[in-house]
Amino acid sequence: MHLTKEEEKTLNGEYGETLQKAIEILMALGNIFGADSLIPIKSAQIAGVSYKTIGDAGLEWISDLSGKVKVPAILNPAGMDLKRWQDMGVSPKFAKKQHEIIKAYEKLGVDTKCTCTPYYLEGFTARYGDHLAWSESSAVSYANSVIGARTNREGGPSALSAALIGKTANYGYHLDENRKPTVSVTVECELSGSNYGALGYLAGMSVGNRVPLFFLKNEPCGDELKALGAAMAASGAVALYHVDNVTPEARKTVFEPPDENIVIEESQIKEVYENRKDAMSCENEIIALGCPHCSSDELAHIARLLKGKTIEKEMWVCTSREVASSYPHLVSTIEKSGAMVVCDTCMVVSPASENYKLMMVDSGKALTYVPSMCRLEAKFGSIEDCIKEAGDSNKD
Ligand code: F3S
Repeated sequence: MHLTKEEEKTLNGEYGETLQKAIEILMALGNIFGADSLIPIKSAQIAGVSYKTIGDAGLEWISDLSGKVKVPAILNPAGMDLKRWQDMGVSPKFAKKQHEIIKAYEKLGVDTKCTCTPYYLEGFTARYGDHLAWSESSAVSYANSVIGARTNREGGPSALSAALIGKTANYGYHLDENRKPTVSVTVECELSGSNYGALGYLAGMSVGNRVPLFFLKNEPCGDELKALGAAMAASGAVALYHVDNVTPEARKTVFEPPDENIVIEESQIKEVYENRKDAMSCENEIIALGCPHCSSDELAHIARLLKGKTIEKEMWVCTSREVASSYPHLVSTIEKSGAMVVCDTCMVVSPASENYKLMMVDSGKALTYVPSMCRLEAKFGSIEDCIKEAGDSNKD
């Protein structure tokens, strides 16, 4: 890799041990993936925040670093609502460690808002063509596909290293040649809402880590694209996709449809809903919405559906603290029903999920990860199905 004089000095330790470690991580990745140089980034989004996933070893690693990040950097969801962790059933021991992790990042100048949808936050916008170092898989997919920015799927340490150096290695999705579609996916029915999560759940399994070009019968909105990308990033390893005539790169470029074409039929989408429908409703069940974190539109939709109800099962609605505090009337309507608007965390990275036996979700990503990462059963439905499942004692 070609290094500038300044980068060489950083590598030789002239700017301290933290920056030396950080550039070593970036160079190691660059050398593995054949990068020619480091390129400046506009922002970083750092995974590896929940104490559940990084444990004491992660906390120690972050605490040993010093200095400040050089570009805007923000955190992925933590393991609990940082203010209402007791209401979630998180233990004081876990909460203490979680707060220590947040403080360690804060010391490095990282913005400690914890969300997988940083693109909803004012002042953290990514634009078409921007080079980024983001790490949460749904955020990576959204940035690459829906915004047209450029990021690899960074690990927590490499995203933090990129933030400290202000650069990342120039390989993978930073390069034009790796952004072309390599497989077509044709969907034979019209879709709406959570169908996009179901489609992503199915497509990810067939597509793996390739770049799919979708041919859809109708045009999805931003939240539907978010759900599609999140699910594909979990059931497969898709970090970039295009939708013919919809996503920005597919609008600018007439892509040659790849030879391989995967066809997805309506019956397959329906099967995702049917799958585990038999997972019995049980007392120890929770309904969890907001994977990825809800937008204001999604919060408004949930509030409309819950208005005037008193639900009988526990329900979390996950979003960022910033979206929640910008729409207090929506939060209040949702919480009057008995549901909890959970900020800073989610159903997958919080240990509180393990207090339940069954989780109903409207997200293809959560459907993949809840059984594997939280060890409880998951079933899938639309937002409307989920709210119906929660019950309404006013109806009795
Ligand atoms: Fe976000 Fe958690 Fe889902 S990090 S994408 S809400 S698994």
